[in-house]
Amino acid sequence: MSAVAHPMFVHPLGEDAALIPRTPDLAEPYHAVLSANLARLARWEPWALSEGSVADTAGFLRRSAVESLDGDLLPVLIGVRAEGGGWRLVGSSGLKIDRAARAGIIGYWIDESFEGRGLVSRTVTALLDRAFGELGLVRVALYTETANTRSRALATRLGFTEEGVLRRAIAFPGDHRDQVVYGMLAEEWRSRG
Ligand SMILES: CC(C)(COP(=O)(O)OP(=O)(O)OC[C@H]1O[C@@H](n2cnc3c(N)ncnc32)[C@H](O)[C@@H]1OP(=O)(O)O)[C@@H](O)C(=O)NCCC(=O)NCCS
Repeated sequence: MSAVAHPMFVHPLGEDAALIPRTPDLAEPYHAVLSANLARLARWEPWALSEGSVADTAGFLRRSAVESLDGDLLPVLIGVRAEGGGWRLVGSSGLKIDRAARAGIIGYWIDESFEGRGLVSRTVTALLDRAFGELGLVRVALYTETANTRSRALATRLGFTEEGVLRRAIAFPGDHRDQVVYGMLAEEWRSRG
């Protein structure tokens, strides 16, 4: 089950949803929602081609926690209110941080049945507020496959600038696909409407 009862801290995304820190104690519920979406994510993400165990997921979350403590990653899960209290995990996002360059890279995915509700837009908005606020970043990039129209629509809707195409940059077995890079600068984010 992808349910989380009482996380220590959540960042509200309106009334119905919240960001929850992606910590190692959430390995089981996170693994459940990840496994349910893996085949779909494998269309876009080479890392999703192989299915790991709960222990593998726990290891991934521990490594993320170390990166987070070092200030190199802001890892979050997307939760929606569950009937009877608590949260149901429905997606994941993160901001990788290069502190020397004061630059970040955002990634995300959401459960298929929760697409189209603006949850990822709200998540990325919260991460950009943090990136260009407290974290003092100058730039945040977003990379996606050129064929990923939903992801590209999200970048465009949030005001990212399309900066170019990295040809054959995504390595799948026997197949290299083109990747488009979008960028947002601190002053652009602050001056948006
Ligand atoms: C890419 C992906 C994260 C986009 O998710 P999404 O649900 O389309 O994104 P959003 O949260 O921005 O929702 C957008 C939709 O919600 C609608 N919406 C509703 N309320 C909204 C709000 N408050 N703010 C923004 N959009 C809102 C938009 O109009 C849009 O509708 P549409 O799909 O009919 O055009 C999702 O398709 C996904 O997980 N794909 C598989 C994994 C993947 O590709 N990851 C990215 C790899 S780079």
